[in-house]
Amino acid sequence: MTITNGYEQSDREERLDILNLPSLEERAKEIIPTGGFGYITEGSEYEWTLRENTEAFDKVQIVPRILTNVSNPSTTTQLFGIDLSMPIIMAPAAAQGLAHARGELATAEGMAAAGTIMSQSTYGTTTITETAEAGKGAPQFFQLYMSKDWEINKKWLDEAVEAGVKAIIMTVDSMQGGYREADIKNKFQFPLPMGNLASIADGTGEGKGISEIYAAAAQVILPEDIKRVADYTNLPVIVKGVQDPDDAETAIQAGAAGIWVSNHGGRQLNGGPASFDTLKGIAEQVNKRVPVIFDSGIRRGSHVFKAIASGADVVALARPVIYGLALGGAQGTQSVMEHLNHELKIVMQLAGTQTVEDIKNAKIIRP
Ligand code: LAC
Repeated sequence: MTITNGYEQSDREERLDILNLPSLEERAKEIIPTGGFGYITEGSEYEWTLRENTEAFDKVQIVPRILTNVSNPSTTTQLFGIDLSMPIIMAPAAAQGLAHARGELATAEGMAAAGTIMSQSTYGTTTITETAEAGKGAPQFFQLYMSKDWEINKKWLDEAVEAGVKAIIMTVDSMQGGYREADIKNKFQFPLPMGNLASIADGTGEGKGISEIYAAAAQVILPEDIKRVADYTNLPVIVKGVQDPDDAETAIQAGAAGIWVSNHGGRQLNGGPASFDTLKGIAEQVNKRVPVIFDSGIRRGSHVFKAIASGADVVALARPVIYGLALGGAQGTQSVMEHLNHELKIVMQLAGTQTVEDIKNAKIIRP
């Protein structure tokens, strides 16, 4: 245990024995302090959308296939030309020092070892450069929460380009935080500074709640901002937080090189649909012009399969990885990704699909 500013951080480093991803939450609750655990776990209001995100997968079914020539399915795939060992990447998640003393550094190592992408958050505990170095050249994305001040955006984007990130994720669903009751009950304020905010006039995030941090960021993001970031960095810009086909079209017209279907893990608009329920319509609108990344609610191999069969190219995961981080550091995060991929392979074989491309053409029943 490491104690920083009175906050107890895990410093475990071990591979995990995992029955399934949902079981990690209870295990992590034992070791992450109440305030940090509440922040990581919570959704907004009464968390209907949060629950629905996972339950919605049960509305469709995968058709078991027989007499197929499938054995030992392959989960390798590509995203923006990057080779991945699995169609599962790490979604951006803030303040990973809440779960482990090494925070994002350990997650970056774990994702590199798992052969997949680490997405860094603007509000990471460690800086863009530090997290990139921990990945030792493994592919990473940088997620930008736009500042009101373009000079600060430039500074972060310069650092991200210099660090060699492969894409910029623009999260555009968080001009305002959802009504998150665990933080209110726990009077939660970030106990640790956020590395990338260190050079900003109004502080490092330490001693603030997420609403104050969002309020300090840009309050309006428009289509022209997507083009501006793409032109400035010469990197693919993925627009994250898409839940509507028309918005996907607007983002593509504005220069988005990827569409990230997400409702922010049910942390923003409670009462909105399960992210999975929006996926098929958005993917049809995108019509393979750019890759589709999907998150919010994935906990099982069958969920990964259903998302890909509904139009996602890859899926992303955050909370279970953070629990793995608390329980086992870098190896813990690696164990989580590998476990989910193991479940996926079983589903692939039973559904007669040899490759990730085959999943895209798999039969799904939509009653
Ligand atoms: C959150 C942000 C920071 O959901 O992504 O708390």
